[in-house]
Amino acid sequence: MTDTAQLTSLFPLESEIPAEHRLAGEIDQRVTLVSGELKKWEGPVQAVVSPVHIRTADGSLKALKLGSVPTGGIPEAEEALDAAVAAYDSGRGVWPTMTVAERIACMQTFTKEMVARRTEIVRLIMWEIAKSLPDSEKEFDRTVDYIRATIDALRDLDNSASRFTIVEGTIGQIRRTPLGVVLCMGPYNYPLNETFATLIPALLMGNTLVFKPPRFGSLLFYPLLEAFRAAFPKGVINTVYGKGSEIVPYMLESGKVNALTLIGSSKVADHLKKLHPKTNRLRAILGLDAKNAAIVLADADIELAVKECITGSLSFNGQRCTALKMLLVHKSVADQFTKRYVEELAKLKIGMPWDKGVAITPLPSGKAEYMAELVEDARSKGAKVINPDGGVASASLFYPAVLYPVAEGMKIYREEQFGPVVPVVPFEDVETALEYVITSEHGQQVSIFSSSPDDIGHLVDPLVNQVCRVNINCQCQRGPDVFPFTGRKDSAEGTLSVSDALRSFSIRSMIAAKQTDASKKLLDDIVRGNKSNFINTNFIF
Ligand code: G3H
Repeated sequence: MTDTAQLTSLFPLESEIPAEHRLAGEIDQRVTLVSGELKKWEGPVQAVVSPVHIRTADGSLKALKLGSVPTGGIPEAEEALDAAVAAYDSGRGVWPTMTVAERIACMQTFTKEMVARRTEIVRLIMWEIAKSLPDSEKEFDRTVDYIRATIDALRDLDNSASRFTIVEGTIGQIRRTPLGVVLCMGPYNYPLNETFATLIPALLMGNTLVFKPPRFGSLLFYPLLEAFRAAFPKGVINTVYGKGSEIVPYMLESGKVNALTLIGSSKVADHLKKLHPKTNRLRAILGLDAKNAAIVLADADIELAVKECITGSLSFNGQRCTALKMLLVHKSVADQFTKRYVEELAKLKIGMPWDKGVAITPLPSGKAEYMAELVEDARSKGAKVINPDGGVASASLFYPAVLYPVAEGMKIYREEQFGPVVPVVPFEDVETALEYVITSEHGQQVSIFSSSPDDIGHLVDPLVNQVCRVNINCQCQRGPDVFPFTGRKDSAEGTLSVSDALRSFSIRSMIAAKQTDASKKLLDDIVRGNKSNFINTNFIF
């Protein structure tokens, strides 16, 4: 049995934090990166607090302060935005006109510096969002792999464009070119990885950036600011901090942002896009809400379905956009499924992110309260918490709650919980499960569990037109990162795989000339004389 007192006891006394995982002290970031300079910050700051609480001698809990970051306002946002605009210089800037090979070289310099700071960054991921240590390490390593794969993909893309095409008497050369100034905002659950899944391709394609780190997961970028400054030309990447609801609308309203990339809420994205004075000029690359369902059919391998649904719904406390947030289970196997699910859940270890084998860790501020609210709402409308200790909480630790039977009308039925509350809905007719997906506001992925080729075939055909990935007998997930990651309805705009992201942050532009002797000579002279970074046939090895 787990009660509140036991959960409380899982938080460490200050002296119990293992030496190897401690931060050396509070980290107070007093610089911002603007216009190629680490600018001293003397304005107001925002405390950075860990979801990990500290137990005091009298048994109470206090939030652990990790340090602080600047909190700027509109003047600082304006300065950062103007720096990005100046660096782009209407497409004449050093960065947008640089050869792809040179941009790749800058990115490689940055990556080397980033790798050198692995320990520091991993530790900050762990402390800032309470992601388990192995998962924090995985996030870092996956990000480095992603950068390297993106560089390789860009090399291929550029090499395939390093030639002329002649069609109907017209000579053309087509390359992908930048969009302009990109405003980049990442999420707290994958603060490094998902932010860089947009920031890196946006940079590599020659755009200049204003980057606002997530509210939780801000400090971990501090060790990278100098690396950004040193690796890229002045103004190519600029940071802003502060109240998103104030500075972000300001930047959009200015009309100076050409592309908005945000991994976050669809409501926010919807609001922001409309603020741009010339909406047709704004490109949006968005990863938004999701409410991915698992559909467990009567003939499913229940052991396999339970295993996948446990990791699918509860990895990193369910704080993944791809998490399974609704389990639709055929009535004939619902008892068997829920019994086994609850048994497996009971084996998950709850504790601190550095605890060996830990699965459930503290949640960021306000989240445990929201989980409790969802549980209470479902209970008041007829669902039961079917796992022992489900919903027990102490400060930021929330023991996962499995709700059964969940039905339309309960908040959890449609709201994206993004946390450790697992709703289970029994169904009799598979059409009911299908209808749930069809009537959802979201359309990212779905998982189906069955061993029948007939049933899977029958379900896949309509489902691929509702979501962008149907997982067969496995949980939903983003990887491998070369697969297209996107969604329909309110779940995404644009596609974010290694190669798709390069396309999302660029547009094809071309030169065209009549196939005359004069044009041939002219183009030949440009190429041989190396007169243009666009018109050339150089191959990047
Ligand atoms: O939060 C959304 C992430 O993109 C999910 O990625 O499926 O690899 O955990 P993942």
